[in-house]
Amino acid sequence: MAKSKKQKSRTKAASKKVVKLKSKKLAAKANGLPKPSSKPYGKDGKALTGVRILDFTHVQSGPTCTQLLGYMGADVIKVERPGVGDITRTQLRDVKGQDSLYFTMLNGNKRSITIDSKHPQGKRVLDALIKTCDVLVENFAPGALDRMGLTWEHIHKLNPRMIVASVKGFGPGPYEDCKVYENVAQCAGGSASTTGFREGPPLVTGAQIGDSGTGLHVAWGIVCALYQRMRTGRGQKVLCAMQDGVLNLARVKLRDQQRLKVGPLSEYSQFGEGVPFGKAVPRAGNDSGGGQPGWILKCKGWESDPDAYIYFITQAPVWGEICDLIGKPQWKTDPDYATPPARLPKLKQIFATIEEWTMTKTKFEVMDICNKVDIPVGPILSMKEIAEEKSLRDTGTVVEVDHPGRGKYLTVGNPVKMSDSITEVERSPLLGEHTDEILKDVLGFKAAEIAEVKNSGALSAPKKEEKAA
Ligand code: COA
Repeated sequence: MAKSKKQKSRTKAASKKVVKLKSKKLAAKANGLPKPSSKPYGKDGKALTGVRILDFTHVQSGPTCTQLLGYMGADVIKVERPGVGDITRTQLRDVKGQDSLYFTMLNGNKRSITIDSKHPQGKRVLDALIKTCDVLVENFAPGALDRMGLTWEHIHKLNPRMIVASVKGFGPGPYEDCKVYENVAQCAGGSASTTGFREGPPLVTGAQIGDSGTGLHVAWGIVCALYQRMRTGRGQKVLCAMQDGVLNLARVKLRDQQRLKVGPLSEYSQFGEGVPFGKAVPRAGNDSGGGQPGWILKCKGWESDPDAYIYFITQAPVWGEICDLIGKPQWKTDPDYATPPARLPKLKQIFATIEEWTMTKTKFEVMDICNKVDIPVGPILSMKEIAEEKSLRDTGTVVEVDHPGRGKYLTVGNPVKMSDSITEVERSPLLGEHTDEILKDVLGFKAAEIAEVKNSGALSAPKKEEKAA
């Protein structure tokens, strides 16, 4: 039956309504997100494009955080003390008069502006920066930011959207006023007491879990705060204490502390050796932290090469393959060796037998042979080997950067690879290299204003005679 004109327009309106409803539903499903970009992956900016960081960090923990944010595309503006800069610029120098590797490897993908934060004109520039930035990151000694006049209240009044992120040594409590460096945090966070050999003293680890580890934690906190701000519209304080960051990384040892109450830690080799446990988690040498026993074994050349070793894990499912490799096929069925519980008291002897085999091969030969039969092993790679490893260069994990003062140097690129946010590693900035650019382009200061601030001395090192006076 043919439809009347009125009916036809009603049907049209109804179907329009359905389309509208459908797209509304779809929009709801998309969680308010824009429609997917049609640009090729890697060509639509970076994860943190549009985020501006006021980087008030120095030494290692804070700079690690802001470098990671820079790798993800944030515009990082590093504020440094005029004439001096981040103290690491001059620490452990390897090229006379040039920024040290300590500095260059922690401050890539940043711009540098020099500001005396205690000078009235310096404060004016800082206030202007606070208004235009999304995040302020600092790792000064406790109270230093407040002493500069940059209290949370002051910052929040100027920019209620500002996220203020801090690294401190300790959280609120008896030690909150202490200055803290890497190894202090490793000790206070429970890592040192659980690292090393039972017979020896506590040991710190070479990986900078206190500094770089906390920088990583605070970067995560900042990104979460940015996400929450999309909903609430306001900034917040983000604090990560180095003690807390280290403890988070050592959480399996707090797990073991609680397990001690119900019985011995059977995966620790001291259990197999019949050495009684004390009241606290002991140092476990090179024992594997999980339920699969492991140890570091000598390989061919160990007599002259301090890194000719391999980490060998006697994972239960490949016990048969291990027995075949080391020439002990009878251990597959021998009740004294066939099951993980039976092996626990004999781990020292088992690893000594495996070592007799690994000592006949280089660590890379052991790696090749074991990987073919799924036995988990890890060669002890020296920093020399890592620096020369082609695959790490190919993936951008180890990157060579050119620097106008010191020439080429190696740095660690972004360890996190993203398919739509491609990291381009840039060299670290020279001290104050971008001062003019930031005043002009970021803050929109006119030439006269720039001259006024500069002439005030707020952006330059005090003159020698003034210093002496
Ligand atoms: N203009 C003017 N003054 C500046 C400035 C600038 N641009 N930048 C820093 N300063 C001042 C600070 O205001 C502070 O002055 P104040 O003591 O009068 O308040 C002074 O420089 C020194 O800062 P501080 O942080 O105390 O440095 P430090 O060298 O004495 O201590 C640490 C270094 C790392 C121990 C300390 O900053 C700290 O404990 N930080 C928190 C934990 C941490 O991150 N540790 C790991 C570092 S890798």
